[in-house]
Amino acid sequence: MLIAVTLVAAPALTMAASPPGAASCLGCHTVNAGDNPVPPIGALSAEQIVSAMQAFRSGSRPATVMDRVAKGFSDEEIKAIAQWYASAKAK
Ligand code: HEC
Repeated sequence: MLIAVTLVAAPALTMAASPPGAASCLGCHTVNAGDNPVPPIGALSAEQIVSAMQAFRSGSRPATVMDRVAKGFSDEEIKAIAQWYASAKAK
């Protein structure tokens, strides 16, 4: 039990205090544009990330993987993640 908790809690990043789930986005997304085919999300505002996630979740925006990713998060979690990414860009 303790091992499972430790694995989930151990941040793969050194960025401080990311909300639950935010680190999973970084498995595919970078904050800034780089050598990566997945669009960076650091340039988006919190509102843009929230509306994109809601559109992916509802299916109104076509996606290859983000529809499935978005379904795993509640509105509150999406908001916290979006705000964290939006503030990460300012650094
Ligand atoms: C499995 C890889 C993967 C993961 C994990 C992932 N994404 Fe994505 N994301 C993509 C891809 C690929 C796209 C392009 C749309 C598509 O094909 O689904 C995308 C598109 C987006 C967009 C739209 C970007 C734009 O420029 O309009 C946003 C916002 C986004 N993702 C947010 C997130 C957030 C927030 C998380 C974490 C909760 C996340 N993604 C996790 C692969 C991923």
